[in-house]
Amino acid sequence: MLLIRPLTWTRGTVVTAAALVAAALVAVVLSSATAGAQARHPVSGRAIAQVMGYEGAAWLERPERESEERPSKAIKALDIKPGQVVADVGAGSGYYTVRLAERVGPTGRVFATDIQPEMLSLLRSRVARARLDNVELVLSADADPRLPEGLFDLVLMVDVYHELARPQEVLRKLRASLKPDGRLVLVEFRKENAWVPIREEHKMSVKEARMELEAEGYRFERVIGVLPWQHILVFRR
Ligand SMILES: C[S@@+](CC[C@H](N)C(=O)[O-])C[C@H]1O[C@@H](n2cnc3c(N)ncnc32)[C@H](O)[C@@H]1O
Repeated sequence: MLLIRPLTWTRGTVVTAAALVAAALVAVVLSSATAGAQARHPVSGRAIAQVMGYEGAAWLERPERESEERPSKAIKALDIKPGQVVADVGAGSGYYTVRLAERVGPTGRVFATDIQPEMLSLLRSRVARARLDNVELVLSADADPRLPEGLFDLVLMVDVYHELARPQEVLRKLRASLKPDGRLVLVEFRKENAWVPIREEHKMSVKEARMELEAEGYRFERVIGVLPWQHILVFRR
């Protein structure tokens, strides 16, 4: 995704030499996708995207992310309360983790997971720099988030679900991790809008998300439409 964006930008951005170098780098990053990933989701037929490699973490941390994606709006829309327990599944370098940790406060907890140890290492440094002691790191497996059962008020996946190699198994485990009234929230680039400058397989439509999550027993609650490029998709267990 990292690489693709500068090249598919359609709103007046000039494709610079730096962007081309970045694109080449991205190609390398994406070629390190997890082996054995299923090519298509068995229920929706959606092509499953390659995992974004840790070499692309700088893109997640880019300063313009706030003006482009408005993550602060997303965090506000999630309406997280102090003391809640939140899972940031596929946390990457921790861009959302630190913001979630501030929201839940000292009486809450954030479990930040990833399948790449290198991402968790970046995340660990970031959490230490921010002096947060309410974050726990979890090394997940492709088919198992390795989270406790019945603990979470909110399980959040930002720009992650579309690249889960084993989405059905992960959704089943995450459902067991939620409290009875807990929410699963996906933030995904909108496939319905061709102008959103992300490659097709890194986007999700509402229809695809509902088809796949409802097949695993989740109840669709609503789409929060406050972000410029992404859906916020809210499901209940
Ligand atoms: C595009 S990055 C998004 C990172 C972060 N959520 C953010 O928005 O800054 C996707 C992340 O999901 C992770 N990931 C992919 N499959 C995963 C899985 N099955 N379990 C946990 N993390 C996964 C990748 O390793 C990568 O760090």
